[in-house]
Amino acid sequence: MRVTLIAVQSLDGFITRHDAPGAGFASAADQKHFRAALRGFDCGVMGRATYEQAQADGVPPPTPARRRVVLTRTPERFAAEAVPGVLEFTDAQPAEMVARLRREGCRACALLGGAQVHSLFLAAGLVDELWLTVEARLFGGGTPLLAARTDTCLRLLAHEGLGDDALLLKYAVVPCAG
Ligand SMILES: NC(=O)c1ccc[n+]([C@@H]2O[C@H](COP(=O)([O-])OP(=O)(O)OC[C@H]3O[C@@H](n4cnc5c(N)ncnc54)[C@H](OP(=O)(O)O)[C@@H]3O)[C@@H](O)[C@H]2O)c1
Repeated sequence: MRVTLIAVQSLDGFITRHDAPGAGFASAADQKHFRAALRGFDCGVMGRATYEQAQADGVPPPTPARRRVVLTRTPERFAAEAVPGVLEFTDAQPAEMVARLRREGCRACALLGGAQVHSLFLAAGLVDELWLTVEARLFGGGTPLLAARTDTCLRLLAHEGLGDDALLLKYAVVPCAG
């Protein structure tokens, strides 16, 4: 199973605009790209904060063909919302979770943020690709793409313009030389 981190950020590296939750700053072109890209994944993993914001934004519910896994240290709080095999809440270690999803037949997993979950998966060496939309915006503050230090090496796979001003960059995570 491949894991692809998908995010939209400002040019200066923030995935939220200041303290405003969500990715409402994303351009129409990125939103279109994001919706189309998600159709290629049978699984989405996100942190509890991102899940709650997605609920508030009215994001469509998951389906058995496109299951959603939410990381929280208190999965029991969400027992009433959970639907086995469709919407799960877990405090499992990322490696354990990825191994289980693979065993259960998932082929492509979208890592949908936020910063804490990005860092958790990168630190565990579980991210295969990163698809990053860079919007022509500067925020100077907000939630950063990553919540912890890393030294991850990437290889550029593809780049394309989205709309007039945004850039979609696709990278593979590769071993660092030396
Ligand atoms: N621009 C974008 O592309 C984009 C993408 C995604 C999200 N976002 C935005 O980013 C913000 C959220 O990012 P964030 O970094 O604050 O939060 P997050 O990564 O979405 O969620 C953090 C939560 O994940 C859970 N968690 C973290 N580590 C865990 C572990 N080891 N085991 C189990 N659970 C763990 C904890 O939930 P509990 O507190 O329940 O234990 C923690 O509070 C939101 O505003 C969201 O809308 C933007």
